[in-house]
Amino acid sequence: MTEHSSPRPLTVGRAAGPLLGSLRVPGDKSISHRALMFGALAVGETRISGLLEGEDVLRTAAAMRALGAEVTQDGPGAWRVAGRGIGGLTEPADVLDMGNSGTAARLLCGILASHPIFAVMTGDGSLRRRPMRRVTDPLVATGARFASREGGHLPLAIEGAREALPIEYRIPVASAQVKSALLLAGLNAPGITRIDEPEATRDHSENMLRHFGATVEVEIAGGGRIISLVGQPELRAADILVPGDISSAAFPLVAALLIPGSDVKIIGAGLNPLRAGLLACLEEMGGAITIENRRLEGGEPVGDLVARHSSLRGIDVPAERAPSMIDEYPILAVAAACAKGITRMRGLKELRVKESDRLSATAALLASNGVRVEIMGDDLIVHGTGAPPAGGGAVETHMDHRLAMSAVVLGLAAARPVRVDDVAFIDTSFPGFIVLLNGLGAGLTP
Ligand code: S3P
Repeated sequence: MTEHSSPRPLTVGRAAGPLLGSLRVPGDKSISHRALMFGALAVGETRISGLLEGEDVLRTAAAMRALGAEVTQDGPGAWRVAGRGIGGLTEPADVLDMGNSGTAARLLCGILASHPIFAVMTGDGSLRRRPMRRVTDPLVATGARFASREGGHLPLAIEGAREALPIEYRIPVASAQVKSALLLAGLNAPGITRIDEPEATRDHSENMLRHFGATVEVEIAGGGRIISLVGQPELRAADILVPGDISSAAFPLVAALLIPGSDVKIIGAGLNPLRAGLLACLEEMGGAITIENRRLEGGEPVGDLVARHSSLRGIDVPAERAPSMIDEYPILAVAAACAKGITRMRGLKELRVKESDRLSATAALLASNGVRVEIMGDDLIVHGTGAPPAGGGAVETHMDHRLAMSAVVLGLAAARPVRVDDVAFIDTSFPGFIVLLNGLGAGLTP
């Protein structure tokens, strides 16, 4: 059974006072998954610090162990991976359970496709509803075979290619998960794997591959990129420092903008430009955010984010910005609900296939708390009045951690308490979220 056995409901009242102080958010989820996976494929011992110890990433750690890598925790966030080398993973003895994590499941499909082994993968109720064909269809060209439930859903059986072939593929959707799965498969194929992405998506895989010694070339092509990977490199173990997750920082950041008198500093947040679309939006809305102490850590740009309470105004968010903030729309919608005027977020088709259908679930979250909201095609339109939303509603989070955190922030800012059906899934990406908000003065009773 992979579901949480019992839901943890939470009623969130208005913040007890301003949010004040400084904090660190847990390590970046995308980078954490990749650190464990690339570490397992490298030769030698990779030392990771700042690893996110959320449930999603722990699933990846367990899967890499089941495939023969030695994965050891030395202390909080400090992990070691003794890699098996490219092509060196071994057949798992049991089903791989990826829990709630689409990134873990999809990237692992890429790894398994070019290993001559048989594996079966499953996940929780949310993951078993999510599309997998976006990775399995192109991976068939490596020589791998997949058998799945109707619609390509997990559980999925994978028979990896004996001698994998490199792929040339134009990805039809903007997805770093698809891109990364294909690059991972290409690692154990001779020749060049070439991936054409029509819109640039997060490039953590490309950065980390280079960090481990692979040759990756990136050509800018319009708004997108063409990525070429030279197959069968020797990946050499390398230390990795995981920055704070900007997608987690987003929640205390927006809470600080919305709650009167707040002044919060988030130390060491990742600022990769392909992840930072939310900051551009919040600045356009009039949010007082400053970035201090910009630096490079482990090859990724990092900085300290300072956010102070601000009066926000509605904006138009262009569809082109979506890949750089794809996980941040629910919390941006909460900010929009507290802003004055209309915010239109365009081109959100991909939100329908996240941990939940985030487009309708975000609209429902706001509507049930007195906010006027519409979905027009793939756009989400939020009508803010500039006053705190009424609140008083019940929110269904559909096994989706980001909806749960967005609902909590809405509750802190709304006039009346917001009832959240289940905050347990927050642990997939942000263990300690409630405690951390309370440390800033939120006054939540868990
Ligand atoms: C991720 C990519 C995004 C994002 C997810 C993490 C990654 O998914 O939503 O949370 O680590 O590559 P898509 O690639 O499906 O857009």
